[in-house]
Amino acid sequence: MSFFMTGKTQHIGQLGVYRVVTTDDQTTTLFSEHFNEACHSTSGALAETIHNYIQALDIAQKAQIPDNTPLNILEVGLGLGVGLKATLDSLISLGPKWRRPLHYYALELDPLLVDIAKEHNPLLSGAFPDYNDLLPFEFGLQASKGLHRLTLLLGDARLRLPEFCRTHPELKFEAIYQDAFSPKQNPSLWTLEWFTLLRSLASPTAELSTYSASQSVRKTMLAAQWSVQSLVGFGRKRQATKALIDGQSDPELLKLLDHERVQILRD
Ligand SMILES: C[S@@+](CC[C@H](N)C(=O)[O-])C[C@H]1O[C@@H](n2cnc3c(N)ncnc32)[C@H](O)[C@@H]1O
Repeated sequence: MSFFMTGKTQHIGQLGVYRVVTTDDQTTTLFSEHFNEACHSTSGALAETIHNYIQALDIAQKAQIPDNTPLNILEVGLGLGVGLKATLDSLISLGPKWRRPLHYYALELDPLLVDIAKEHNPLLSGAFPDYNDLLPFEFGLQASKGLHRLTLLLGDARLRLPEFCRTHPELKFEAIYQDAFSPKQNPSLWTLEWFTLLRSLASPTAELSTYSASQSVRKTMLAAQWSVQSLVGFGRKRQATKALIDGQSDPELLKLLDHERVQILRD
């Protein structure tokens, strides 16, 4: 929904002002004054999300595997809910080929963004819980509908994610949307410690994708024992990055990173 429809040009969250920006595909994003950055590419918030996460991680294909185990997706940064809405829309469009229950976990530092996500990207799918179903629990907000589940882990992801996962030792994520603000503006979610934590919570076939093609980020992922591959980027970005548990790194990329004098990012 664009700001022409809501009439609002900005929102106030716990972290300050978010300005509403209409992107080239007519979907909206937010510019955070706190992080001094927009949540998405101005070339298209929804199109970027579909490119970098839904398609890069073959979400529709993962949801069609005929088994009853939940498809556990972790999104790093709920933001204004574009990732969640795009995921759900892609599964709904599968019709009866959508086989596995969706368990969607999103991390978010600013709890007021949940209301903003609800306003900009309402879910209302019928099958999956929507924002109005969410109830408070120890780590944030949670709702279930049938076999589907939505869990919003609110607070600093570096604390909340390990705290929550300690109470769910069996939980492993199969797809991870690494969608924090950029390494420059949001460095704490791009470190060796962060990618090591994500690796410890990843399923044996897990895949992670991100819009970032930073060589430091890629080197940091490798140091955290992920294999790293280059993806085609969205909009003006030439490349994006995919990291895998079970898979080989791009040999060309390894050679390049070997020669690059880039630092591993640490807390
Ligand atoms: C680029 S935006 C995410 C956009 C979102 N994926 C979407 O589709 O709308 C990054 C988000 O990460 C959140 N964030 C930043 N630092 C965080 C932290 N330490 N813990 C949890 N969330 C954080 C920000 O508040 C922001 O909403």
